[in-house]
Amino acid sequence: MCGIVGYVGAQSPNARPLDVVMGGLARLEYRGYDSAGVALVTPGGLATAKKAGKLANLAGELERTPLPPATAAIGHTRWATHGAPTDVNAHPHLSADQQVAVIHNGIIENFAQLRRELTEDGVALRSETDTEVVAHLLGRAYDGDLTAAMRAVARRLRGTFTLLAVHADAPDVVVGTRHDSPLVVGLGDGENFLGSDVAAFIAHTREAMELGQDQVVTLTPDSVHVVDFDGAPVSPRRYTVDWDASAAEKGGFRSFMDKEIHDQPHAVADTLLGRTDTAGHLVLDEIRVDEAVLRRVDKIIVVACGTAAYAGQVAKYAIEHWCRIPVEVELAHEFRYRDPVVDARTLVVAVSQSGETMDTLMAVRHAREQGATVLAIVNTHGSTIPRESDAVLYTHAGPEVAVASTKAFLAQITAAYLLGLYLAQLRGTKYPDEIAEILDDLREIPDKIQAVLDAAGAIREVAVAMKDVPSVLFLGRHVGYPVAMEGALKLKEIAYIHAEGFAAGELKHGPIALIETDQPVFIIVPSPRGRDSLHAKVVSNIQEIRARGARTLVVAEEGDEDVLPFADQVFFVPRTASLLAPLLAVVPLQIFACELASAKGLDVDQPRNLAKSVTVE
Ligand code: F6R
Repeated sequence: MCGIVGYVGAQSPNARPLDVVMGGLARLEYRGYDSAGVALVTPGGLATAKKAGKLANLAGELERTPLPPATAAIGHTRWATHGAPTDVNAHPHLSADQQVAVIHNGIIENFAQLRRELTEDGVALRSETDTEVVAHLLGRAYDGDLTAAMRAVARRLRGTFTLLAVHADAPDVVVGTRHDSPLVVGLGDGENFLGSDVAAFIAHTREAMELGQDQVVTLTPDSVHVVDFDGAPVSPRRYTVDWDASAAEKGGFRSFMDKEIHDQPHAVADTLLGRTDTAGHLVLDEIRVDEAVLRRVDKIIVVACGTAAYAGQVAKYAIEHWCRIPVEVELAHEFRYRDPVVDARTLVVAVSQSGETMDTLMAVRHAREQGATVLAIVNTHGSTIPRESDAVLYTHAGPEVAVASTKAFLAQITAAYLLGLYLAQLRGTKYPDEIAEILDDLREIPDKIQAVLDAAGAIREVAVAMKDVPSVLFLGRHVGYPVAMEGALKLKEIAYIHAEGFAAGELKHGPIALIETDQPVFIIVPSPRGRDSLHAKVVSNIQEIRARGARTLVVAEEGDEDVLPFADQVFFVPRTASLLAPLLAVVPLQIFACELASAKGLDVDQPRNLAKSVTVE
């Protein structure tokens, strides 16, 4: 959700802290863009600026009214939870004496009680936010030691939070803490950084440190001290970020989403890389779960949200087919609040790009409490979900900045397939040569995605021509069904068009009533080479809707001539094994959504009301 940056540097006093923080906010703006603000520690006290709307509004304000040189700075880009996105509700928030500034990501659940307590004590609160109480509590707890004040206040808070604070009397200090919300430390030379994720400081350093749950970090230009809420010192894990700043730049594309769609051949290839030995066997040493435990697994439950859940739904078909283990896929927020049948023989697979999605994190905890083994499939190193899981299989999609997920989806399917093949290898449900053949097919996927990207002109033209349609439907069967739902989600979230994905077989059970003249319908057609009659069934579905006036937009395998008589438009994708087809079929749908939203003049990377990491429930 909100993006947080903190900086303290030895070059001060000069303008640098503000530049670093604004640069970090620009990279984090995908996390929330309802408002933005900064607080600087200057020789004359705290200086703040904050503005509703995107970061550009704050940048304009800083140009009109420059702030004085500073020694330390914190900055925030907000996804509003409590209080409308106004200037007043924007972070930072100040204590009553204006000596402490605070920024926050998360939700303080007991804020109403704390607010009442402060009001009864005569404190006048200025905003409607849950965050402002923290600023006042810190101001009252401060007696010369901001770290001690933060520990004392953090212990009183319920809910989820990452907090950063500066004090006017501590010119070289930024203090941060976290509970169920991310915070990463960036280690520089004579300067140190804090960020919601490493994108905040990747332009300056790749050396990072994970801050654990319920810890408080104190940053000066030359030191990083971490303690727990009781004041006991802790030594967090250091690591080097394996991507650099250029990976988070647009690289000549019009939008991050466009760039990330074009990154997909690499996302799949990198996720496969180094995971087989010279004999072609899968080697997933990172899955540190005892092989005996994996052999005993009698059920897999995939927990995830949104696009990641659709990746899980695709993987279900493959894992059940290869491993003969039943796979359930459940939205993490539903799983967490029911009483699922989970025990020590259940493998829960948590899929998440950010590794911070609160719903998924809560599902992970819920599963582990009941004795399940949890394996995370995650893209972001240093995030919370892998830390709280028994094992992690990283996707190597690189940083995903656009709010709408694209390359992470393909990398998630790839990683889940590797997991399925690994289990099949371990449990002997597939012969080694069958596994080797599937791996060979997977290795061909990046070039085939590239071929789809190279042929994107046709889909672009259609998307631009369709920019004013009010509704688009998507149909698919088998692995094409989650692809249809993902195509609909992409269109809803970035083009604000009503879109729905259906199982094509369900059409006659209700949705066909929606078909009227010129209703655009995408149909994901399975390979005609498949063993069963699915292809014929879906071709019949196309005829049924065309007969009722639908405009049919067909995604089919190269050479599939059966669809031609019934398709208004066909987008061919290269041939591949049926179970791998989603890795290709979804690409035209992503391009369609991206191009249509761009043609409508919308901000493709930062769609309204959304944020990249949903770190609140
Ligand atoms: C859709 C999208 C979301 C995320 C979902 C889970 O384009 O991006 O539906 O897939 O919020 O996020 P992660 O994967 O970070 O857990």
